[in-house]
Amino acid sequence: MIKIAPSILAADFANLERDIKKVEAAGADMIHVDVMDGHFVPNITIGYPVVKSLRKVTGLVLDVHLMIENPENYIHEFAKSGADIITVHAEATNHLHRLVQMIKDEGVKAGVSLNPATPLCMVEQVIQDIDMLLIMSVNPGFGGQKFIESVYDKLRNAKQLIDRLNPGIDLQVDGGVGEDNIGRVAGCGANVIVAGSAVFNSKDMHGTIQAMKKAECR
Ligand code: DX5
Ligand code: ZN
Repeated sequence: MIKIAPSILAADFANLERDIKKVEAAGADMIHVDVMDGHFVPNITIGYPVVKSLRKVTGLVLDVHLMIENPENYIHEFAKSGADIITVHAEATNHLHRLVQMIKDEGVKAGVSLNPATPLCMVEQVIQDIDMLLIMSVNPGFGGQKFIESVYDKLRNAKQLIDRLNPGIDLQVDGGVGEDNIGRVAGCGANVIVAGSAVFNSKDMHGTIQAMKKAECR
């Protein structure tokens, strides 16, 4: 079963509640929240006050993607604000194992993400401790970028690694996924798909999300 996580980066920040209700009605499975600090990535977005406000208006899973330096300093606040899943970048910490434990100690699901240029072996030692592996299919920082083709192979290898070491955890892909390529992405083993522009720029959000959920693996 494919799960769709619309990224609110592509939503109207002046009308977040309205846009969340729209994707809820259209069948979204979770809400993907992109947190950027202007250091780890060259863009600045939102922080935990926004997560706290979103928590009040949706029952959907809040999937918080931290693209920030020193993530260890902010885990507690994001957990307290109502995040259900906190995903950190392997590149953003010297102590990934400790960071994953810190997230789990907050009673929140732990995800680990890899940038396109970071090899899969970076997560091998923590894969048994995590709930989700996020493979970036664009260089993080901006919505609306083009899916990087070499990521298909990486996804297939990530799926194999998961099946070998911790079967059942989610394999998420983020960046440049839409109706045109979701079948191929799912065919490589990804089951949680982040989609920003494909969902929010669609004239028929319901149709787009439903079509993406029903995409045939290829
Ligand atoms: C990229 C973000 C993504 C992005 C996805 O840095 O992590 O979540 O918003 O947007 P699209 O689907 O437009 O590529
Ligand atoms: Zn993201």
